[in-house]
Amino acid sequence: MKQQRAKFGSKLGVVLASAGSAVGLGNVWRFPYEAGNNGGAAFIIIYLISVVLIGMPIIISEFMIGRRSKVNTAGAYKKLAPNTSWKWVGRLGVLTGFLILCYYVVVAGWTLEYVYQSSINAFHGQDKDFFVNQFSIFSQSIFRPILWLVVFMLLTHFVIVKGVEKGIERSSKIMMPLLFILIIVLVGFSVSLPGAQAGIDFLIIPDWGKVTPKVVLSAVGQAFFSLSIGMGCLCTYASYFSKETKLGRTAVSVALIDTFIAILAGFLIFPAAFSVGIEPGAGPSLVFVTLPNVFEHAFGGVPILAYIFSLLFYLLLAMAALTSTISIHEVITAYIHEEFHLERKKAARVVTATCIFLGTFCSLSLGPFRNFTLFDLNLFSLFDFFTAKILLPVGGVFISIFAGWYLDKKGIFKEEISTGGAIHPLLYKLLIIILRYVAPIAIFLVFLNQFGLF
Ligand code: PHE
Repeated sequence: MKQQRAKFGSKLGVVLASAGSAVGLGNVWRFPYEAGNNGGAAFIIIYLISVVLIGMPIIISEFMIGRRSKVNTAGAYKKLAPNTSWKWVGRLGVLTGFLILCYYVVVAGWTLEYVYQSSINAFHGQDKDFFVNQFSIFSQSIFRPILWLVVFMLLTHFVIVKGVEKGIERSSKIMMPLLFILIIVLVGFSVSLPGAQAGIDFLIIPDWGKVTPKVVLSAVGQAFFSLSIGMGCLCTYASYFSKETKLGRTAVSVALIDTFIAILAGFLIFPAAFSVGIEPGAGPSLVFVTLPNVFEHAFGGVPILAYIFSLLFYLLLAMAALTSTISIHEVITAYIHEEFHLERKKAARVVTATCIFLGTFCSLSLGPFRNFTLFDLNLFSLFDFFTAKILLPVGGVFISIFAGWYLDKKGIFKEEISTGGAIHPLLYKLLIIILRYVAPIAIFLVFLNQFGLF
């Protein structure tokens, strides 16, 4: 009973679905708050270096592993490296994805609250203090955030059971370009607010004195998180690519789109934050307290425009988050479906239910349970720290070693990278050197440094 495995329908679909996974709350919510917490421009420069030097080669590696094996990420290592321990890299990825989804969906739920608040025009005529209060009351309350996270998980579930081409690909094709255009328009408004220049300076003038091991690890972690690498997400999507897909070119497109949107989000948030006097290090609330201000200030004279822009923005942000939650859900669903031979629909149900369960605790950990901490972090922050700053980079080390050494020695690397035409020998050499030595050693050193071992 060999069923034809699903596939993406077009080249554009491949790029947009992968970019849809990469572009999400990581760009618009997490990037600005990490940049804000870590001093701004210097963080961003280290982040950009990580994207080019470590990110792109790992995207290519994940693409190869997925397309070559045509199975879920844990199965992929089993297939390409039978009877070895490599399968644990895939399994670790599935676990990482699961943990990310549990807290990511909390923030995704917040975007729905903001869609709702925008739709009833609750932001009209309000000022900064209102937005700061409103966010802290909302995010610490019990029922509403949980309600929205459940709704969000169900939306994700719905697309997942519709399948790859109809669900994932079609939704990405419409939402991604729209979000892009809207952010560009809003950046135009944000940078022209009074006092915006201080925000622009924060983004472009590096203060190297602020760079500590923590800043470097945060930047590397953000690159992994934002590009959706280190956990087999792009590997799972690539298992639906066809032979014709050019892996190198697709990887460059995904990294460019993702990075461009993160930088744009920076130019949207910081000028606006500085303009109304919100601290750049405000943490996870940064986007949620800054943006409503942009809408109010930019269109104060024309309330209907403020209404439309705010509603549209949160809708698109929710959708960007949705294409990302879908991609993580798919990793786990494909794993359970293929490895445990559970019907796809049932596998999806297991994932949705367990994520709602754990997600609820993550949400409560910001409010009633905030005094339960481990290493000084509540559950929400613990999941975030542990996944983005530890598990993803660790996954990345193994993926690059697997691709650079194992796949290359078997000739698979060369074959997979060349399906769209021969790759320049120098570029090939460079990629292999990065994957074999540069990326693993760099990440390893960042770890040692962060944990005070040198
Ligand atoms: N890259 C996504 C974002 O920036 C989050 C994500 C992480 C998605 C890991 C898949 C895997 O929002």
